[in-house]
Parts: sequence; C-alpha cells; structure tokens
Amino acid sequence: MAASSLREPILDWYAEHNRDLPWRRPDATPWGILVSEIMLQQTPVIRVLPVWADWMERWPTPQALAQEPPGEAVRHWGRLGYPRRALNLHACARAITADHGGRVPSTYDELRALPGIGDYTAAAVASFAYGGSHAVLDTNVRRVLARAVRGEEYPPKATTAAERKLAESLLPPVGAPRWAVAVMELGALVCTARAPKCEQCPITARCAWRLAGRPAHAGPARVGQTYAGTDRQCRGRLLAVLREAYGPVPKEALDAVWDDHAQRERALDGLLDDGLAELLDDGTYRLPA
Ligand code: ADE
Repeated sequence: MAASSLREPILDWYAEHNRDLPWRRPDATPWGILVSEIMLQQTPVIRVLPVWADWMERWPTPQALAQEPPGEAVRHWGRLGYPRRALNLHACARAITADHGGRVPSTYDELRALPGIGDYTAAAVASFAYGGSHAVLDTNVRRVLARAVRGEEYPPKATTAAERKLAESLLPPVGAPRWAVAVMELGALVCTARAPKCEQCPITARCAWRLAGRPAHAGPARVGQTYAGTDRQCRGRLLAVLREAYGPVPKEALDAVWDDHAQRERALDGLLDDGLAELLDDGTYRLPA
C-alpha cells in the first residue's frame, strides 16, 4: 500500500478524534513531554494524567527534581507501577542539569544517552518536543503498521529492522510529529490489541489484515498478565509502605503487609538491589536518600 494512501485518512481522522492531552498541548515543555513519555510507556493515559499533573506542579523543570533525593521521585510515582522509571527520571533530571545546562537535549543521540532512555523515548521526545523527523515505534504504532501494511494481527515481540525501515518509509516530508501521534492515537483508540473497531477505522478499506479476513495471530496465544500473588504485587505493597511513611520504617511494618515470608524477602531484596529502598544500620528501611 502506498504511503500516501495511508497518510491522508489517518491525519484527517486524527484531526477529528484526537484526545486533548496536556502533554500534547502547545504549552507543554520538553521536560513535561519527556516525563509523560516515560510514564505512558507501561501505564494507561487515565492513570498517568493525575500523576503527571502532580509532577509538573512539583517539579516544573529538571533542576527542580534534581535537587530532591531520588526517594521523592519514587514517593510521588504513586501507583503507576514499574517504579524504576521514577529513579530513571530522577537520574535524567540530574544528568540534564549537570551536562545540558538544565535544558532537555534536542537530538536523538543526546536523548538516547540519558539514563534509562531507549530508542522509543528518544525518538518520541526529539519528535514531539522538538519537531524532529523520527520513526516513533511504540507498541500502538507497531500494531497499526503490522496490520495495515504487513497483514499481521500483532507485530513481532521485539522491534525488527524491517519494522523500522517500513516506519521510516512512511514518514511524511513535513509534519512527522503529527503523523507519529496520529498513528499512535489510531492504535490506542481504534486499532486496539484485543477488540479492534475496524468499522470506525479510516483505513479499513485498505488494511491488509482486514482484507485478509483478520487472520488470528500465528504462534502462542497471548495470555493476560495476572497480578494477584505475584512478586510484582508484593514489591508494590512493600514500596507503598515506604512511600507512605515520611521516614524510616521498621521491618515489622513491612512484614505485616505480605504473608509469604520467602516471597516477601525476595521482593525486599529486589527493591534494595534496584535502589528503590535502603536498609539502614539500625535495621530500618526507607526510600533512597
Ligand atoms: N501522546 C504523545 N505520546 C503519547 C503516548 N506515548 N501515549 C499516549 N498519548 C501520547
């Protein structure tokens, strides 16, 4: 399918259906965009909105966050999950302050060199904050392209060179950031993972997957992640105790929130190893200072 035949309908659809999200507004700063992209990577928009707003009020610049101990980033991460992202953002804030004069860098390479910033985030920030032309391959974009162009229900597990080449070939000569966010939005609202709304899709008539009769994904079925009883849930409970205490907590306070001793100890060791918690000489625990 020719690139141009996809572009116009998707951009027209986006003009009508895009969500007004604060990090997409003209007054969003590069720092706000960077924070949003890290938060959004593994967490739905609806849960990110209040935490992002709180962060922006608390820490409107990288310098503001850099002045805090890392534990404050973890505390105000709340229940977004995957809290190492908070530590990464804190490390980014310090690196931006120390090495970039407090200004979020604008090039893909400089962004990619920041702590915890991968290909997706570097491309997204260079594009959305600075207008750069990059293939922004998040999971929604990859799914839309897999279906529309390759005729497959889901993209490969990890991003391939072929996907990158395809995404780059579709970049418009001008307006790459708007194109990226439009495809992303189509994947988030219409071309969803489990129950795509093909009847609402602006490219349904030319979608390779739809034209092939929506064949099911070849390979093992995707199972939903369970959370209850997992090490991740246990870590979340322990970290919530540390977040809600403004000071060190005794071990008993942690023991009280999870019954399984072995799992609890394993989770606590994991938090210490990841730098999300600290053990003090007197045997108490706290967020990293
Ligand atoms: N707008 C810009 N980037 C986004 C993202 N990662 N998820 C949802 N909306 C976005």
